[in-house]
Amino acid sequence: MICSVEFLLLILGPAVLVSATPTPTTAPDLKNAAVLDRRTTCIFTAASAASASKTSCATIVLDNIAVPSGVTLDLTGLNSGTHVIFEGETTWGYEEWSGPLFSVSGENVAISGAPGHSLNANGALWWDGQGSNGGKTKPKFFAAHSLTGKSSITGLNVLNTPVQAFSVNSCTGLTISNVTIDNSAGDVDSLGHNTDGFDVGSSTDVTISGAVVKNQDDCLAINSGTGITFTGGACSGGHGLSIGSVGGRSDNNVSDITISSSTITNSANGVRIKTVSGATGSVSGVKYDNITLSSISTYGIVIEQDYENGSPTGIPTTGVPITDLTLSNIKGTVDSDATNIYILCGSGSCSDWTWSGVAVTGGKESTACENIPSGASC
Ligand SMILES: *[C@@H]1O[C@H](CO)[C@@H](O)[C@H](O)[C@H]1NC(C)=O
Ligand SMILES: *[C@@H]1O[C@H](CO)[C@@H](O)[C@H](O)[C@H]1NC(C)=O
Ligand SMILES: *[C@@H]1O[C@H](CO)[C@@H](O)[C@H](O)[C@H]1NC(C)=O
Repeated sequence: MICSVEFLLLILGPAVLVSATPTPTTAPDLKNAAVLDRRTTCIFTAASAASASKTSCATIVLDNIAVPSGVTLDLTGLNSGTHVIFEGETTWGYEEWSGPLFSVSGENVAISGAPGHSLNANGALWWDGQGSNGGKTKPKFFAAHSLTGKSSITGLNVLNTPVQAFSVNSCTGLTISNVTIDNSAGDVDSLGHNTDGFDVGSSTDVTISGAVVKNQDDCLAINSGTGITFTGGACSGGHGLSIGSVGGRSDNNVSDITISSSTITNSANGVRIKTVSGATGSVSGVKYDNITLSSISTYGIVIEQDYENGSPTGIPTTGVPITDLTLSNIKGTVDSDATNIYILCGSGSCSDWTWSGVAVTGGKESTACENIPSGASC
């Protein structure tokens, strides 16, 4: 570990940006030890050192770290205002465990990547087609839990997560911008599974913009929370932009959600809302706007109140009403053997829906829709 004052990083910075070789490890200028306080920049080349000294640094540079197997790169409990920068390639060793591989928390924390960096989780070592349903125990990737104040995650390049990528939980005021998650290698022989892009729960005021997600499960799944925006995203390979499944957790309310200006291609579904059979909770104030679909294999738009243990029962229940749902400018095509729109609501548990400019074509018209509220159609 090298600690240096801020100006030293500014000098080292350009050399790192243009070079694939490890950061120069010149000795720090310890004459300035007296000012190693809130302006300290620490360059770490080992996960253990980063975790041990994380609260002594205003800026934490994670320089080509190879995280040992079975270890979380643990940056929880950072000081307010800490900046974390991934540089070079960050890798994780193989072990069957539940993770997470990276964890961060704190107030006003900014996490970003230097140009050319990657977070390579080497998911192929775990992929067995079973995801979190069986086979090898797979570590979750990135726990963004309890980030508060004005925290941000910007420009990260994530490759090949073993299973779910980002878990956003108990966050307020978090902005996630321009993050790329590329799990497309997991499409080969359908080995990648349950590789959700962003799972959001129990959070308030979260914005995810400019995400590129190539995966094999939900691009976005919001289980609970309020004031959540997803915009300018490009999703492919997965299960679509989802609310749910809602119900059966400790927090089961979803409200004030905007999902906009995004594309969904080569995916099982486009727009999806699912609530849990027999559960209680609420989904209200959800708006999908300007979503373009292409090559959708199951449903263009699917809203159903019948989920049980991760599968639909076909029998809707009414305990998680879906109210004040706006769909505008949802356009595009599904495969010819897919279904354009499917709505399965319980009696009276879907209401106050406003749909305009919804044009999903190319597939079958469903004959199984139930209790379609006025304003919508199958
Ligand atoms: C994200 O990318 C867009 C387009 O390149 C850019 O305009 C924007 O400033 C970026 N956002 C952040 C926070 O870097
Ligand atoms: C969830 O919503 C229900 C119904 O609107 C409400 O009674 C309950 O207080 C809410 N719970 C939370 C944790 O917000
Ligand atoms: C609609 O979304 C696309 C991205 O899919 C974006 O380029 C375009 O600007 C959006 N249109 C509006 C009116 O926001």
